[in-house]
Amino acid sequence: MTPAPIPTALAAAAAAVLNTADARAKAAASRAAAARWRAGEIAAIGAAKAPDRPARPARPELKLPREMPKRRGAGTRESRIALLHAVAHIELNAIDLAWDIVARFAPGTLDVPPDLPRNFFDDWVRVGDDEAKHFLLLAERLAVLGAAYGDLAAHDGLWQAAHETRHDLLARLAIVPLVLEARGLDVTPAMIARFERLGDMESAAVLRVIYADEIGHVAAGRRWFEWLCGRRGAAPVETWRALVRKHFRGPLKPPFNDEARAKAGFSIAYYSAAPEAAWTNTD
Ligand SMILES: [Fe+2]
Ligand SMILES: [Fe+2]
Repeated sequence: MTPAPIPTALAAAAAAVLNTADARAKAAASRAAAARWRAGEIAAIGAAKAPDRPARPARPELKLPREMPKRRGAGTRESRIALLHAVAHIELNAIDLAWDIVARFAPGTLDVPPDLPRNFFDDWVRVGDDEAKHFLLLAERLAVLGAAYGDLAAHDGLWQAAHETRHDLLARLAIVPLVLEARGLDVTPAMIARFERLGDMESAAVLRVIYADEIGHVAAGRRWFEWLCGRRGAAPVETWRALVRKHFRGPLKPPFNDEARAKAGFSIAYYSAAPEAAWTNTD
């Protein structure tokens, strides 16, 4: 079989990442495309067809969230593998989420302003590169622990947010970086502390790298969300709340990591409960 031609426009490179099934190959394609964009070897943005669902490896088996086994045996090697595997799965999804933005929302399509600045693409290419780095770091930790991505089941709810917001960049930014990635900032410090308590400093160090990078991802989401609100003459906080109510299932779960969110410029005014109280977790 002749190898696929190397794309020379960014949207095509993004589609190529999305259409790569093997997890390590997807991560490698993501890093390579980002390097070529930074080096100027890919200069045009172009247009591409983003697939409805990105290609994924045959394993892990994907299950509905409610079918996922409960984690047992806190502190065992198996429980550390389960946690690293779950985060690796999130990072693999995050690679696709970043490149889906690049492939799907070309300037001048789907209500995207034709003068969408080039540094919008710089930001999402960097996010795609970071997510691939995160996946590979976790794959390395899994290998050291005698496991691999694909060994355990993973949950299939993560692409839902992308599918739900596939027609509207503003909705995509409201949900993916500003709900899901912001949620990552809320939960990661406790995971880091857990690995440190267990004496697994290497896994804790990987999660620290992820945590620092993810602040930048939320910041990029917030920056472009507000830029697009400005273009549409929409009030950011009210618009974000309305989009979250429309597109995100379930309440946002406190406690929120106000400090990390603030570092991303994502102020408490967005997600504080008053007056709607819509964000209160009633579980
Ligand atoms: Fe990540
Ligand atoms: Fe991220």
